[in-house]
Amino acid sequence: MSGEASGALAAVEVSGDVPTLHRPSSLGGSVSVPAPGYAKSQAHLLMKSEHNPNPTELPPPIAALGGNQGDMHVVVLIGMPEVGKPFLAKRMRQYLRFFHGADCALFDIAAHTPRADPSDKGTVDRNAQRLSASIASWMLNGGQQPVPAQHEAAHPLEKDEHDGDVGAAAWPERHAPPPAADADARAADDAAGAADAPESTDARCSGPPAAAAAAAIVRGAPSYKGQKVVDSGRCAIVYASETIRTFAEHWSGSSKERRRWIAQSVKQMSASVKLIFIEVKVLDPQLLRNNIAIKRAALGLGSSCEDDFRTVEARNKDFSKSFVTLQDDGSEDDMSYVLFINYGQKVVANRMHGFLRMRIAQFLSTIHTETHTLYLTRHGQSEYNRLRKIGGNSGLTSYGLEYARRLAAFSEGTICREDGTNANKARLWTSSMRRTNETAQFIPHPQVAIDGDKWVQMSHRVYRNLDEIFAGEYEGLTYEEVAANHQDEAFLRKVDKIGYRYPRGESYYDIISRLDPLVHELESYHEPTLIVSHQAVLRLLYAYLMGYDREDSTKIAIPLHTVLKLTYNGWSRCTEERVFLGPEVPQGELAGH
Ligand code: F6P
Repeated sequence: MSGEASGALAAVEVSGDVPTLHRPSSLGGSVSVPAPGYAKSQAHLLMKSEHNPNPTELPPPIAALGGNQGDMHVVVLIGMPEVGKPFLAKRMRQYLRFFHGADCALFDIAAHTPRADPSDKGTVDRNAQRLSASIASWMLNGGQQPVPAQHEAAHPLEKDEHDGDVGAAAWPERHAPPPAADADARAADDAAGAADAPESTDARCSGPPAAAAAAAIVRGAPSYKGQKVVDSGRCAIVYASETIRTFAEHWSGSSKERRRWIAQSVKQMSASVKLIFIEVKVLDPQLLRNNIAIKRAALGLGSSCEDDFRTVEARNKDFSKSFVTLQDDGSEDDMSYVLFINYGQKVVANRMHGFLRMRIAQFLSTIHTETHTLYLTRHGQSEYNRLRKIGGNSGLTSYGLEYARRLAAFSEGTICREDGTNANKARLWTSSMRRTNETAQFIPHPQVAIDGDKWVQMSHRVYRNLDEIFAGEYEGLTYEEVAANHQDEAFLRKVDKIGYRYPRGESYYDIISRLDPLVHELESYHEPTLIVSHQAVLRLLYAYLMGYDREDSTKIAIPLHTVLKLTYNGWSRCTEERVFLGPEVPQGELAGH
């Protein structure tokens, strides 16, 4: 660290190549510092000062920021056609980015390789070298993800793997920022210095969050490239959306020789780049049938799929004669790999040691392709909401209690009867706080018989991981009180909402860490699940599920008295429906909001 800090307030701004630290006005001036690209609110604590000439160099290593810094991985998905490799690649990218800050890029072999000219024997080698060079350049130089310019992308129908990128459901590299708090809310935020989305029962909000801009600057700064503080490192995820056409490409990993070639090529990139193979195997015909039906529905082709299934079955039978599965005879035991069988039913991990590799193995064991329906809601209006106090453990107001009654009716009529008539199994999760438990109190828990099973509807599970952000010393204060009496802290939260940790409290990064195991559990269940939690926690869950960057999540509008219904399946992006149950809270009762 080249600058010196007083130990008092200083804020870091990243507006050019080098971040700048503004000293408190009592000291005056500013110095340029190689600040870490994240947790800007802690950067001044990491600088030399009179009383701390040897400061610690990085923010505390919680899971959301930690991992093995600078680690580099190449993950290659291999397997038969129609098993969902592109889908898995995208799910993995979102998980590793969101929960572990890994810098991830997707490399679709089909998009990087021109159609082979059968008369030109060198095409396959050249294709392979070119893809290796692209991966190495991105991995080692922190370059932009290369845009494949080789040939036109295949039409979705031509692809033998569906990747969820169909029409309106396209899943781009980065999403547009999510809906944020409305203009009034942002004005209140500016006034309060720290607040971002004050209490509102209006579900129709829009506007871009400023955090996205700050994150983009930090990610783009050249200093970021060279620094070893690249959270959990970089991860290149290689897969093929056209498994059959690219079968003979080296990067398809469809034979032992090709896998050895990949291992050699990765070794040549750098000794510290680690290779992982994930073989996706779908052995259960019913699962394959479901996947094909979902793919057809996503392509707008209706759901009947028996003919398609027979075609795929016959094609895969042929294909399996040439495709060489990862060997368990010891000849490939020196490599890191996962056999991912029937979507999480069986996961075999070989040499998957190391922080990110272990997370990947566990994440894969939670994945399934059936439809997830999640209902996210904040608790009903609480006494502290009415008083604009943050944190605490207050009970519900009369408006909040009315919401609790309406939520119970919604739960019985909609969540537990998704087809409108018949009962389906459903789950209920709440935080451990009084206001969420009071919100769930009227939800009935009848024992029902479904598919021959006895099931307690909406059996109440309480998770501390779902508790609201802990505001430490500022629990029970209003945003205005924080802004008036702790100006420095309010300012630091404003410039770095995701990384800012309340004095003796939590940051959004801390919540990300505690949500990681909870999300694994959530991904593994099949039943519709109602989650009653809090503003900060739901922003993160929502952003992860909708595919937004974590840096864009801290200002998303999560209105009171509204249920956010999120639906996604094995092949498509998450879609959202907002159901305002009410009651509307009169302006006076919102204490200024
Ligand atoms: O205001 C309600 C609340 O749930 C507070 O308890 C919590 O501190 C806050 O929202 C989180 O939102 P923000 O991060 O925007 O301050």
